[in-house]
Amino acid sequence: MTAPWSAWVLTLFPEMFPGPLAHTLAGKALADGLFALHTVAIRDFAHDRHRTVDDTPFGGGPGMVMRADVLAEALEATAAAARATLGAETCPIVYLTPRGRPLDQERVRALARAPGVILICGRYEGIDQRVIEAHPIEEVSLGDFVLSGGEPAALALIDAVVRLLPGVVGQADSLSDESFETGLLEYPHYTRPRVWQGRSVPEVLLSGHHENIVAWRRTESERITAERRTDLWQRYQQKTRIER
Ligand SMILES: C[S@@+](CC[C@H](N)C(=O)[O-])C[C@H]1O[C@@H](n2cnc3c(N)ncnc32)[C@H](O)[C@@H]1O
Repeated sequence: MTAPWSAWVLTLFPEMFPGPLAHTLAGKALADGLFALHTVAIRDFAHDRHRTVDDTPFGGGPGMVMRADVLAEALEATAAAARATLGAETCPIVYLTPRGRPLDQERVRALARAPGVILICGRYEGIDQRVIEAHPIEEVSLGDFVLSGGEPAALALIDAVVRLLPGVVGQADSLSDESFETGLLEYPHYTRPRVWQGRSVPEVLLSGHHENIVAWRRTESERITAERRTDLWQRYQQKTRIER
């Protein structure tokens, strides 16, 4: 039997996993065996009895840096375990860092198509640069802000990937309309009650006229994207111009 999509997470805090994921769709998917989650405690690869994983930065400056030797040994052991699980296939290695390429839905989709992923969670000032140079590591950021560790970013990435795996989201249809799938942000949603605090649901959504509803949603998606995300809007306009 082939292994399900698998995530290996290298961390100083394995107890943070699956954490909040256990309470989401991903938690059910994990229990149902639709994906596998392995944590690797970097500290287990330390060389001294104090289980040291970090040291002061060469060149001075504040904070500590995760040691190259300890992290590389953890990574190489993890890569071997991943190879043993996945057979001939290799999986991407991602270091979560604010210096990385911002994570987007396109990359999430690509990761969901891969057999799995190895995620490195940094702490302190980050990891020794030589580990990045010595391995085929992709640097990925969750956004332009600084977290105190890579773990929340790893949890977010796993959540985003797992909901794209077959069988995880009940109605696959509900994924196709979502923000970014069409290159646009999603339209607004409404449910009962029809009138709430004097605010009515847009009439068209109550009309039962499918084509008008689709057209209204498309217009709203375009309006919201143009207002909020000029970068996405320009790309979308270019794409639709080319397709025409
Ligand atoms: C305090 S941060 C280090 C920040 C680093 N000194 C810098 O200025 O780029 C510690 C760790 O949190 C993680 N982290 C922080 N912000 C992140 C972000 N926006 N996306 C992904 N990981 C992040 C990284 O793994 C990083 O090594």
